[in-house]
Amino acid sequence: MAVNNVVHVNECGLPLNAIEWLVKHHQSKLQERGQMIRDLRLEEGSFVVDAGCGPGLWTSLLAQEIGLGGNVLGIDISTEALVTAQRRSNHTWYRQQVQYKRATLEQLPIEPGAADMIFSANVSQYLSDPVATFAAMGPFLKSGGRLVIKDIDFGTMKFHGVDPFLQERVFQARLLWEAERVDHGYAYEDSWVGSKLAGYLQAAGYKNVEEKAYRIVRRSPLPRNFRFYLHGIAEWFICEGAPYLSPDDVTNWLQCFTDDTNNVLDQPDFESEETEFVVSGVWDAAKPCFYADMHTGISHREPLFITND
Ligand SMILES: C[S@@+](CC[C@H](N)C(=O)[O-])C[C@H]1O[C@@H](n2cnc3c(N)ncnc32)[C@H](O)[C@@H]1O
Repeated sequence: MAVNNVVHVNECGLPLNAIEWLVKHHQSKLQERGQMIRDLRLEEGSFVVDAGCGPGLWTSLLAQEIGLGGNVLGIDISTEALVTAQRRSNHTWYRQQVQYKRATLEQLPIEPGAADMIFSANVSQYLSDPVATFAAMGPFLKSGGRLVIKDIDFGTMKFHGVDPFLQERVFQARLLWEAERVDHGYAYEDSWVGSKLAGYLQAAGYKNVEEKAYRIVRRSPLPRNFRFYLHGIAEWFICEGAPYLSPDDVTNWLQCFTDDTNNVLDQPDFESEETEFVVSGVWDAAKPCFYADMHTGISHREPLFITND
């Protein structure tokens, strides 16, 4: 999954071969993701921007909530992702309501004050200055419009049935890699971003910031898509974390997750647990927000709402 920080190729966690992984990841969490969108209580006829839409996996969920009178604009910096998204929406019932355009989060291709909601899933982890990006997105919202950011947090991930000390060392290695990857020419990444989002939105000038935490648990026997997703995550961790781990840890981790006959993912006591965060804030157009103040007062807080426990 790690790719070089080159803007004209599939950067930011989306090389071509990652599209299949993204699709299976999405399908494996469709139940929770559907709930996340329903919980937003979108009004029928809304105009929603899906910012960093990737292959357009959330489009049908959003379209369902806003109905035939609403519109979704998917934007992304990756042309390959947009082509896939367009292809996926052809021949669907919502195709007339959906458009895809190449753009960045900071410079949306819409008039200021046009969007009822800007939704962005699994993108904030790639933003090197999320507070500045969220502040730049605010003016594209209608007065009272909401920015909704959804993302992962590896700090919440646990695999029951795998040596907890080995897990801890592998996660620490990943954390070390994320701290150093930019110095090695790779794109910025923060896989621990989920629980920080509420602070970022507040610092960017949003009001009524609400955080919902969705706990996702899967037990043995794992659904096929979820097994594919976890297998990918486990390989991804070890590829990037290997330089910070002992050879024994690398071997043991690979044996756990890639072994044909004794794979931990197929053991009856295996359980995977993680929490994903959905944070929303209302853009306060009347309250100018000064960038110098944005980075102060960001702290980790307990979730304001917990669902799906
Ligand atoms: C991990 S994918 C998530 C795709 C989709 N939202 C999903 O959840 O399936 C991240 C996407 O964000 C896009 N992206 C990253 N930074 C961006 C930026 N600054 N502006 C627009 N798109 C961006 C990438 O090209 C990629 O398609």
